[in-house]
Amino acid sequence: MGACRQMDVLSMFCMSNFSINNASARIIARMRHFVGVGACYLDTILCVPRYPSEDEKLRASSITTRRGGNCANTLEVLQDLFGHVNDPIALSLIAVLPDRQSSATTKIVDSLKPTVSVEACIFRENYQEPPSSYIIKNDATGSRTIVNHNDLPEMTCDEFSKAADVINTEGTWYHFEGRIPDVTLQCIQYLRKSYAGAHISVELEKPGRQGLQELVSEANVVFYSKSWAIGNGYHNAEDCLRAQAKLAPNALLLCCTWGEQGSYALEPRTDTYCSVAANMPKDSRVIDTIGAGDTFIAGILYTFFHEHKTQALSQKLAFANRLAGFKVAQEGFSGLSGRMQLQP
Ligand code: FRU
Repeated sequence: MGACRQMDVLSMFCMSNFSINNASARIIARMRHFVGVGACYLDTILCVPRYPSEDEKLRASSITTRRGGNCANTLEVLQDLFGHVNDPIALSLIAVLPDRQSSATTKIVDSLKPTVSVEACIFRENYQEPPSSYIIKNDATGSRTIVNHNDLPEMTCDEFSKAADVINTEGTWYHFEGRIPDVTLQCIQYLRKSYAGAHISVELEKPGRQGLQELVSEANVVFYSKSWAIGNGYHNAEDCLRAQAKLAPNALLLCCTWGEQGSYALEPRTDTYCSVAANMPKDSRVIDTIGAGDTFIAGILYTFFHEHKTQALSQKLAFANRLAGFKVAQEGFSGLSGRMQLQP
């Protein structure tokens, strides 16, 4: 593990370009709202004893359906983690959803209860079907192969800005799943112009998506997936993080997950670099990797709040990594805070 110099994240925000004075520091101290912006899916998960070959018939050992979507998964985990603190922050989702009255929307809304608000979501009238993922989960290897379908017209920047205006809280943290990069860039630019105290994190997951790189220059925190890093010519996480730091003038933290090798983080302003090996609970095995990355992101974002704020980068990374390890060892996302033994 690299040597990690410790610096309070709040102090780092105060040093950053967009929050250089005391007024900004006060805004950060008032940061009470976290918003996830991304697609929301209904996942149908088929567990199979081995991966099927093309044109084969194979019997699944089980089938489950649950709400998915990167940001929604992250919010579900954050809801659980914040359930253990005395002054939890507000959580909201901005996603395009089917008609308010549709059964799909009812399921999605129910899955985010009790505290994730969907009031800022964009409901497409006359659309009944949700974005859907069909996931083959291979019990032999733990791999998850995802085929998805999404018929809903994408969010526009205009719709996003109206949603952000509904939330309209100083110092809100916006986390974007890096999809529809051109619109996402416009949304981030809108926030920078209209809400100077907004904090922005972005996930870069899918390698083939043109335009994701441009989002990095605006973000305060960036999450890179292994597949994005490899797809963009990096051979390991450290190379990716160090090269990306040069393209990220506003970044306080860059993170990269590398599957079973673990996770890596770099604070460009202090040149603090850390790595931590993947960490599954003792005597556990891989049960469900769907949303492990979303859980890691929740873990890192959580450490920007409450008692973790003052921890060293190595401790924050270890926290998120352990949280993701617990997730991989269980179905779904519930009860992770209990496994982490978080106290109120
Ligand atoms: C997991 C996930 C699933 C969803 C898919 C969308 O990270 O969010 O829940 O179906 O990815 O790409």
